[in-house]
Parts: sequence; C-alpha cells; structure tokens
Amino acid sequence: MIPTLAKPRLDIEIRRATTRDLNGIMEIEEASFTTPWPREVMVNEITANPFSRVMVATHGKEVVSFTICWVINRERHLQNIATAPAWRSRGVARMMMDHLLDEAQRDVPSKVMLEVRELNREARALYSSLGFAQTGRRTGYYSDTGEDAVIMSLNIDEENPGSQE
Ligand SMILES: CC(C)(COP(=O)(O)OP(=O)(O)OC[C@H]1O[C@@H](n2cnc3c(N)ncnc32)[C@H](O)[C@@H]1OP(=O)(O)O)[C@@H](O)C(=O)NCCC(=O)NCCS
Repeated sequence: MIPTLAKPRLDIEIRRATTRDLNGIMEIEEASFTTPWPREVMVNEITANPFSRVMVATHGKEVVSFTICWVINRERHLQNIATAPAWRSRGVARMMMDHLLDEAQRDVPSKVMLEVRELNREARALYSSLGFAQTGRRTGYYSDTGEDAVIMSLNIDEENPGSQE
C-alpha cells in the first residue's frame, strides 16, 4: 500500500459569527454561488433569525469558511456551507461539519438534513463521507440550471454518533 502524507494541521478557529464577519462571509458567498444570498439576508441570519446558527472558521482575522444551520428542536437543516476558494481542499469544510455534528450529538436523538445540487460533486462527496444518505430528490429545483436538488440526511443517536474523528 502506498503511504499517504497526513495533511498539515491548520491553525483554524471555529466560532459563532458576528456582524463583523459579514464582509468575509459575503466575499466567500459571492465567490461560491451563482445566486449568492444578499447581504441583508446574511445580516438577518446572524442577528435576527432565532433558528439560525451561523458559524465561521477563521485563520487569524480572515474568515475562511462558514456554515449556516437552522436548528429547530432536534432537527438541524444545513442551509449553507462554503470555503474561500484559496482555502479549499485543506480540510476546512470537514472541520466545520465535524463541529456541527458534534453539536448535534449533544441533542441525541437528532437529525441533520440538507439539500445539494445534483452536480455538486465536492459537496456530495463531503456529505457522503460523513455518513449522510440520500433521502429524497426535488426535480428541477434549481431554476438557474434546472438541476435537481438531492436531499440528504443523517440520523444521530447513541448507536450512530455521527462523525467522530
Ligand atoms: C464543498 C466545499 C464547501 C468543500 O470545502 P473544502 O473546505 O474544500 O472541503 P474539505 O477540504 O474539508 O474536503 C472535505 C471533503 O469534501 C470532498 N471534496 C472537497 N473537495 C473536493 C474535490 N475537489 N473533489 C472531490 N471531492 C472533494 C472530499 O470528500 C473531501 O474529503 P477528503 O479530503 O478526505 O477527500 C467547497 O468546495 C465549496 O465551498 N464549494 C462551493 C460552495 C458549495 O458548493 N457549497 C455546498 C452547498 S450544498
């Protein structure tokens, strides 16, 4: 077997977002999606939506990734995740997802759900590697490309504690 090199440990902090992170979040959002969420929607997610938990990964003062998750009782709906293009493929989104699943594990039994574009290979690989399974499909859901939305979910309970590295 060919030995693989361990990825270098990143100096990343994961914490709750504040409005001071908005510029960094918006820069990533606009670089990542064809139809980015408007800034005022992001402000609402951070400051007003009682169900929303916006988390950022930072390297020093730089926001390098973020997640937006709605927590409703024991269900979590991942609304958004993106990593800055320059920081991709370095394990940052996996760290964000591990953090989210660690939180979900505190509420067992709990469920994490998300929708992903059918052709989003990177994101689907990430979710599958964490144990998410396809539980539904919305045909033609994304009006810009006509792509289907694939619904994926992960049940977390005592027997299936989610991703624990
Ligand atoms: C999807 C996304 C968030 C992944 O972020 P990232 O920080 O680069 O991801 P990581 O480095 O933590 O990689 C985690 C896993 O994702 C998958 N992945 C990441 N980049 C990939 C690539 N280029 N090709 C295939 N799989 C990839 C792999 O399963 C990877 O695990 P591995 O490194 O053990 O193989 C990032 O590509 C992104 O921001 N895309 C644009 C926004 C988006 O599509 N968000 C998802 C909305 S549902």
